[in-house]
Amino acid sequence: MSIRFGILTLSDRSAKGERADESGPALAKLIYAQAWRVVKQAILPDDQPNIRAALIEWEASGEVDVILTTGGTGFAARDITPEATRAVIQREAPGLAETMRTESLKKTPHAMLSRAVAGIRGCVLIVNLPGSPKAALENLQTIIPVLPHAVQLLQGDPKSEDSH
Ligand code: MTE
Repeated sequence: MSIRFGILTLSDRSAKGERADESGPALAKLIYAQAWRVVKQAILPDDQPNIRAALIEWEASGEVDVILTTGGTGFAARDITPEATRAVIQREAPGLAETMRTESLKKTPHAMLSRAVAGIRGCVLIVNLPGSPKAALENLQTIIPVLPHAVQLLQGDPKSEDSH
């Protein structure tokens, strides 16, 4: 199945043009390698109201199945992606965040410092990923195998029961 993604890079420095966004393009490359599509991409500063507005607008557009955010999940004062995400999701999907942290811990103890959350708004799955390209890719790799079934379930596809 083809999954439509939105990728939202959250970084004050990248939004100001002071640092190139490497994570967004790296995630897009991995998505295309699965024969999936990236239909929305943006870079925003670590600012809660703007992040919330973008997530709400992308879900309402009906154009995306999954929104990946990258950045702003750590402990720095400006790391507020999980709070912005929690404000817009209607149901949490803790298994995704738990599994990403568990798998990441096998690579670095710093995985404990990610406060990433995942959840559902409408029919759209929203997943926080860390900011560095390496960390973002490692975390996305972890959840790739379950994304087709997750999207099928969210869309109420009757065929979704077939893959149990
Ligand atoms: N997860 C994986 N798989 N690999 C990593 O290198 N880095 C961690 C963590 N998760 C990392 C990882 C680090 S150093 C931090 S601070 C947190 O993610 C939060 O990252 P963020 O603030 O860029 O979102």
